[in-house]
Amino acid sequence: MSIRKSAIVIMGASGDLAHRKLIPAIVKLYEEGIIEKNCSVLGNGRSEFSDETFRDKIGLTAPYRNMFHYHQGMEGLYDKVLSMGKFDQIIVFMALPPRVYGSTAEQLHKQGFRDNVRLIIEKPFGTDLKTARELNIKLKQYYSEKQIYRIDHYLAKESIQNILVFRFANNIFYPVWNNGFIESIQISAFEELGVESRGDYFDSSGIIRDMIQNHLFQLLALLTMEAPVSLKPEEIRLQKMAILKALEIKECKIKQYEGYQKEPKIPSDSETETYAEMKLEINNFRWTGVPIYIRTGKAVGEKMTTIAITLKKVPRLLFNENDELEKNKILIQIQPDSSIIIDHSTKIPGTDRDITTTDMDFCYSSSYEGNVPEAYQKLLHDALKGDQTLFVSAEETELSWEKIEPFLDMGNPGLYRRGRIPQSDLDADWVDMSKYSSACH
Ligand code: BG6
Repeated sequence: MSIRKSAIVIMGASGDLAHRKLIPAIVKLYEEGIIEKNCSVLGNGRSEFSDETFRDKIGLTAPYRNMFHYHQGMEGLYDKVLSMGKFDQIIVFMALPPRVYGSTAEQLHKQGFRDNVRLIIEKPFGTDLKTARELNIKLKQYYSEKQIYRIDHYLAKESIQNILVFRFANNIFYPVWNNGFIESIQISAFEELGVESRGDYFDSSGIIRDMIQNHLFQLLALLTMEAPVSLKPEEIRLQKMAILKALEIKECKIKQYEGYQKEPKIPSDSETETYAEMKLEINNFRWTGVPIYIRTGKAVGEKMTTIAITLKKVPRLLFNENDELEKNKILIQIQPDSSIIIDHSTKIPGTDRDITTTDMDFCYSSSYEGNVPEAYQKLLHDALKGDQTLFVSAEETELSWEKIEPFLDMGNPGLYRRGRIPQSDLDADWVDMSKYSSACH
C-alpha cells in the first residue's frame, strides 16, 4: 500500500527516543521504499539548529538528507510545515515528557494542525486512572480518537503479533484454548538491566506502571481474547476490552532489588517496586477457574519474555500409572529469541513402556531469514497508513488503570538479589523456562 504524501513532525527531535528509534525508523522506511522523497520530516525542539546543523547532528547522509528539516520552538511550526510542501497528511510524533502532551496538543491545534493530522503518543499515558482520564479528555477536545495513536511497542513485536495468528489460524489450538483444557497461564518478563540512567522516571513509576499496566496486560488480552469478527482495529480492541473488563487481580506481591536505593537519582529510602508478581483471573465463561500469573522485574537474570501455558492432565492415566505424567505445555518465547514450543509425552524407544517429554519447536530466526522490522518502524508505518490495530484505545488505557489502581504504590517491598529470579510468594508453580531456551540454537 503506497503512503500518501506526508510530513512527519518529531516533537522532541534532539531527545534520546528520536535519536535512537524514530530517525533510524524513518531512514529505514525510506531505504525500503515505503516512504519516498515527497515525504518530509520536521524536527522540533527547544535547541537551536538550522536544517543543516540538525542534519549533521543526527548524522544524516545523502540521499535522504534533504528530507529532514528543523524548526526551533512551537511558534511558527505549522507555517514551517506549509513552507515545506503540500501534504496529504501530517503525522506528529510526541517524543516529549508526558506532562506536556495535553498542552502541546492544544497548541498544535491552535496553530492549524487539524483534520489531516495524526498524533502519535508515547507511554506513559497517565500515571493512574485520574490522570489518564484527564489526558484523554484534554486530547479529545482537539483531536478525535481516530487521530490519536497511543504507542505500546510490545504490540509491534513480531512474536506478539503472531499470537492471534497462532490462535486463530490454527484449528489445532482453538478447541483447547479454555478452562476445560488449560490449567494455568504464566507470563514472565525479566530484564537483566536495572534502572540505569532512568532513575528519575522509574522511581516515580515502578514496575507495575512501567510494564504491567500496558505491555503485559496487552499481551494477556491478545492471548485470551475471543476471536474478533474481523481484523478491523475496532473489532480487535472490542475483544481486548472484554478481557480487561473481566480481569481481576487476586494477589500482588512486590519486591525491590538490593542496591536499588543506591542507584543514581533514587532516594535512599525509596519503596518503589522493581519486581512484581500477580495472580489474576479472567471472570468469563472461557477462563473462570484458570489462574493467571504475571511476574516482571528489573535486574532479574537474563532478559527474557515468555508465556507458559500448562494444560490439564489427560482424563485417565494409561501410562506411567505410578508416576505423574508430565502435563502438556505450550511455551511462547517472545524475546530474546522468538519461538513456540509444544512440550508433549513420547515413548522412549525400547522394550519397556517408559515415557518422557519431548519438544516440538518452531523458531522464528531459523525458519525465516531476512529482516524483522524494528517496533518503531512498524508503528510509524502503520500510523502513516492510518492503521490503529497496534495502538491502544483510550478505553483500554483507562480500563487497565482502573484494574491496576489498587496495587499502585503499595510500599514496603521485599528485597531480592540482583541478577536472580526472586523466590515466588504466590502459590504459582512457575515453569522453569531455562529448560526451553534451546529452541533457536
Ligand atoms: C519500556 C519500559 O516501556 O519497556 C522500560 O519503560 C522497559 O522500563 C522496556 O525496559 C522493555 O521493552 P523491551 O522491548 O526491551 O522488552
